[in-house]
Amino acid sequence: MEPPLFLRNLWYFALHGSRLKSGKLVQREILGEKIVFGRDRSGKPFALRDNCPHRGIPLSEGSFDGETIQCCYHGWQFNCAGSCQKIPAMAETLPNLEKIRAYAYPCEEKNGTVWVYIPENKANLEGARGTLPDLLIPADKKFLHVESFDLDGDIDHATIGLIDPAHVTFVHQSWFWRTSKGAKRKEKHFEPVGKGFRMARHKPKGSAKGYSILKGGISTEITFQIPGHRFEHIQVGETDSIVSITLLTPINETTTELNHIFYSTLGWMKFVWWPLVRLGRAFICQDVRVFRKLAKGLATNPKLMLVGDPDAQARWYFELKKQWKLAQDTQTEFVNTIQPATLRWVT
Ligand code: FES
Ligand SMILES: [Fe+2]
Repeated sequence: MEPPLFLRNLWYFALHGSRLKSGKLVQREILGEKIVFGRDRSGKPFALRDNCPHRGIPLSEGSFDGETIQCCYHGWQFNCAGSCQKIPAMAETLPNLEKIRAYAYPCEEKNGTVWVYIPENKANLEGARGTLPDLLIPADKKFLHVESFDLDGDIDHATIGLIDPAHVTFVHQSWFWRTSKGAKRKEKHFEPVGKGFRMARHKPKGSAKGYSILKGGISTEITFQIPGHRFEHIQVGETDSIVSITLLTPINETTTELNHIFYSTLGWMKFVWWPLVRLGRAFICQDVRVFRKLAKGLATNPKLMLVGDPDAQARWYFELKKQWKLAQDTQTEFVNTIQPATLRWVT
């Protein structure tokens, strides 16, 4: 049985916290569902299904004062948990008014990033508890930078493009990163971890000039977890670290949002900040452009293949999806079936 395109009962990155200003409602499409985000008076974010329970108009078209969302059609009022508080046209107050609800998704903010849990069954939110991804930085810290990009393509193509070593040589050729002439044979060890797999901690070497500006002993660990999260933790010397996380959120069947969030304890990075941000953006834009070309090719629905070690991580991704779906359907614990392996490729 093939797993569906979208995995549910998982947390998805929704948006950067700075986009949720007080008194503002923000509509987002995530996994094809329309969701309205806001922040209550205490600063806590919330996420509601973006349809008024009365006649379905988007709640995000209404008004919000930080406490009450008022629908723009007949003025029904809802609190930030989605419960109806008032129906202005009603001469008498309805009993059980609070039972009229806009569906509230679990929504959490962590290190300045806002996450939403997309359940398979809206009445069962058990899987949301304690399962927000570990973002690898101290609880009181915020990410320095967030950038969003839209990729033309579904979550599967976006993900296998993210964890695909072979495209790097051809898509990401640039003076600051690497050139195709320097391609070398690589050997990397992988092991299963959580809902994914990890490339064991290693010293980045040779062709990646981007690392050479960092002094001291450097090691990097790269982890991938479903539904489409890549975490890179770079240890610099004894005490410093850089965390670079790429998060894929399916918008719908044809668009996937890529968010890159970045954190560093290195004080001097502040001084090279803008050039660094621009380099990062240039790098991701290379992917954005190749995805535009890919979408043209996929429009005719060609048969595709995943071949050898360079595509092993893509095969693992589909295996993880299958196991996740199976665990949800049978209501059993997810089993990570990836086996430790050494992969070899030339990039
Ligand atoms: S549609 Fe929202 S109040 Fe009627
Ligand atoms: Fe890429």
